[in-house]
Amino acid sequence: MSNKIKILILEDNQSDAELLQRELKKSGLSFSSEIVQTQHEFIAALDSFKPDIILSDYSLPSFDGVTAFHIKQKKYPDTPFIIVSGIIGEENAVELIKNGVTDYALKNKLFALIPKITRAIKEEKEKKEKRIVNKKLKTEHEKLLKSEAQIRNFAKHLNQVMEDEQARIARDLHDELGQQLVGIKMGIRMIKEDNYTEQSMIDEKINKLMSDVDATIQSLRKISSQLRPRIIDTLGLIPSIEFLVTEFKKKTTIKCHLELNNISEKFDKDVSTCFFRVCQESLTNILKHAEATEIAIEIKKENKKLSLKISDNGKGIASRILENPFSMGLLGMRERASIIGADLNITSKKDFGTTVQLKVKIN
Ligand SMILES: Nc1ncnc2c1ncn2[C@@H]1O[C@H](COP(=O)(O)OP(=O)(O)OP(=O)(O)O)[C@@H](O)[C@H]1O
Ligand SMILES: [Mg+2]
Repeated sequence: MSNKIKILILEDNQSDAELLQRELKKSGLSFSSEIVQTQHEFIAALDSFKPDIILSDYSLPSFDGVTAFHIKQKKYPDTPFIIVSGIIGEENAVELIKNGVTDYALKNKLFALIPKITRAIKEEKEKKEKRIVNKKLKTEHEKLLKSEAQIRNFAKHLNQVMEDEQARIARDLHDELGQQLVGIKMGIRMIKEDNYTEQSMIDEKINKLMSDVDATIQSLRKISSQLRPRIIDTLGLIPSIEFLVTEFKKKTTIKCHLELNNISEKFDKDVSTCFFRVCQESLTNILKHAEATEIAIEIKKENKKLSLKISDNGKGIASRILENPFSMGLLGMRERASIIGADLNITSKKDFGTTVQLKVKIN
């Protein structure tokens, strides 16, 4: 890219224009210039030449500097505009600057013009940089607000889920464990109060109580297993995912291909839970929403990174939904990923399906 300043000169007097160009050259300024004389040429040059600065005569036979300034202002408000005239009076000059013209110079004092050009260009450059920084800050700020809103929504959702979960556990504890324990207590009381005359009856009752205790332990296991994917604790991530996929295949006719790349080791509990949950939510989403016929799941360990990729060939997720902070399944995946410092990437194309990718550093 050239660093030459592009100067558009609006001047009807050819010799004045050439004099101006000579003066600019003499100053050592690196520039390229175009001379225009009419309104039509001026408007065309604004778009084709795209000047960095405009030097305009004050009065021209069929046009004038003020009109030119207003035309430029509408299309390119940031381009500096300097009036170069032989006749402009002090009062006019003040009025022009008040109206937004960058500066003015007299034709008989062209040496004063060069510093004005360099200053105007420098100021515009600084303003432009400021605008870029402000725009960046604004985008960052908006992003921050958006992610704050997402976190607030997710926290609200989590609270609701936890309350529902607590209510369910309380119900299960009351209806299942409560009943069973009351039954066991009554059985023990019957033995204590000598309700059985024969030893065989006592033995029979004790055996019954022992099997009730076993059933209670089973109930307890069932309730607690619903709190976290216990399968991960016992089997580890890979067999758990295999199990998930096997169970998934039983519920659907969607073809599901799982590639595990001979990974056999166990991973950190938090990493495993996150990978399992992301896989589980993705499969549920495919089943519920995707209208897919095929799914490919791949787990890979490469360069100290564990990655999971789930692709479907369904209808895809609209970007409006992907960005929607109210969708809890996707938000939950993102939250889980961020908790373990993993990257979660969801890409989707209408009618070409969706790909969920999760990647985390492991030791
Ligand atoms: N694989 C997919 N293919 C097509 N659309 C999908 C897919 N996954 C998600 N979606 C769309 O994205 C939306 C948001 O998904 P998300 O999992 O957050 O919510 P949900 O499944 O509707 O409800 P929840 O997961 O909270 O029970 C879904 O309602 C669905 O429209
Ligand atoms: Mg979902």
